Amino acid sequence: MRIYRTSDYQEMSRAAARILAAQIQLKPDCVLGLATGSTPIGTYEELVRMYQNGQLDFSEVRSANLDEYRGLLRDNDQSYYYFMQQNLFRHVNIRPENTNIPDGSQPDADAECARYEDVLAHLGGVDLQILGLGHNGHIGFNEPADHFPKATHCVDLTRSTIEANRRFFEREEDVPRQAYTMGIGTIMKAQKILLLVSGAAKADILAAALRGPVTPQVPASILQFHPDVTVIADEAALSAFSG
Ligand code: GLP
Repeated sequence: MRIYRTSDYQEMSRAAARILAAQIQLKPDCVLGLATGSTPIGTYEELVRMYQNGQLDFSEVRSANLDEYRGLLRDNDQSYYYFMQQNLFRHVNIRPENTNIPDGSQPDADAECARYEDVLAHLGGVDLQILGLGHNGHIGFNEPADHFPKATHCVDLTRSTIEANRRFFEREEDVPRQAYTMGIGTIMKAQKILLLVSGAAKADILAAALRGPVTPQVPASILQFHPDVTVIADEAALSAFSG
């Protein structure tokens, strides 16, 4: 595991975008595993800027997002589908048919999760997976649990995640209670993983994930077992981490 320390959020975002850009240049039809949340927004802004400067071409890039809220339609401004359009897809020349996100409007969870695993298999797996870190150590929407879920599945969001996401919704009761997410096994199959973390509020959970015991109670701790993980985190996020 490589740990790349940056001074702040902007530098984290630039460093992450450079790695993503190199991946696209090395393999123009690569499969990017994409994340949502506030953490990767700056990275996507950098990628858009590189695209606008003529430095990047997304025409052959394929993508698969980690997760989606169950029950939100795509045009809901809190859906991850909407987030990806707003923050990346509509600003670059990625082909809509090359982008993949679990469909939160599908009520049959088993069918939708099985479909998404098939999509990932057809893509031939993820070359580079971006991850953020939940306040409780979740990756994607894999919440603390008594086991590591393997494949894409429907998850009940924990109270702490519902509260963390509360800021994006008008009312608490509007925050979805469930999501479809790639499993830990799905995430661990990616060739390379880039974990992005920013801010002092994530310092303790990041230290636990990187140096604590590998346990499903801290889902991100499983990354200690992945052969190719790069953590890009700012000073504040690494303030509880030594070594
Ligand atoms: C959500 C997403 C995660 C993300 C996490 C952290 O729960 N499902 O993929 O990593 O939030 O979000 P933020 O980056 O806003 O702290």
